[in-house]
Amino acid sequence: MQTIILNGKKLAEKLHQNIKIKALELQKKTGKKPTLAVCLIGEDPASQIYVNKKQQTAEELNINSIIERLPSNSSIEEVIKLVKNWNDNPGINGILVQLPLPNNLNSDLVINEISPIKDVDGLHPENLGLLCLGTPQMIPCTPFGIYSIFKEYNLEISGKRALVIGRSRLVGKPIAQILTNESATVTIAHSKTSKEELDYLLKTSDIVVAAIGVPHFINGEQLKENSIIIDVGINRIDIEGKNKLVGDIDYESCLNKVQAITPVPGGVGPLTVAHLMINTLKAFEIQNQMYNN
Ligand code: GUN
Repeated sequence: MQTIILNGKKLAEKLHQNIKIKALELQKKTGKKPTLAVCLIGEDPASQIYVNKKQQTAEELNINSIIERLPSNSSIEEVIKLVKNWNDNPGINGILVQLPLPNNLNSDLVINEISPIKDVDGLHPENLGLLCLGTPQMIPCTPFGIYSIFKEYNLEISGKRALVIGRSRLVGKPIAQILTNESATVTIAHSKTSKEELDYLLKTSDIVVAAIGVPHFINGEQLKENSIIIDVGINRIDIEGKNKLVGDIDYESCLNKVQAITPVPGGVGPLTVAHLMINTLKAFEIQNQMYNN
């Protein structure tokens, strides 16, 4: 069977066109430019790249972006003070604190301080709670991006057996919730799931979302034929002396075996950024009493 390559980059470009137009319209109507504020703490090289990408994309799409870089030895009080300042600043519509934080900082304490109405990451307990109840307000960007792939490619979720590998606040928990809301039968596997159990789940699942963080952890042999594979992993490895980005899934071994798969790069990654921009515009509309849905 011919495997469908789920082209997240192309879908993100399509979304960007609408975001760009909408951002300009909102600015014309209100005289204010939608603004995203991002806090980056420490020197994590991957986080630096992601934050730069977010800023570049925001600017291309007529969204203002502010980046505050704090040193890795910042105290929790300093970070919370910044977040509270942004909460109180009506010129800022969306707040994102780039994760992971340095080890000395507890990310839960920081996220809990972000005003839910500016929480464009959708990670605040109120937003995750609303998602859990099936009445979402802000949906976390990577899971939202994954959902948009299912919609774009008309991939059925209802009634399917879905396996989510990873139980993080950023990806595993919210995507499991979205798939549940869409009437899949969802199992969450994690680092304590036994190898035998995971093998069984992989062989019997119609949808697999891998958010593990281990390069090529899963290969095509382990998967059910005709399954839909969403690879959230972004891992850097050395292949023949070259630094390459690979996913959690061994992509090549899945071709002509599975129904559809997201590549790395060019799959889920660009959609995370696109949905951050979508959430920023939604936050702007809510804050300006313009949101109707
Ligand atoms: N680190 C990797 N992805 C994300 C994301 O979507 N949001 C935040 N805040 N940090 C991240």
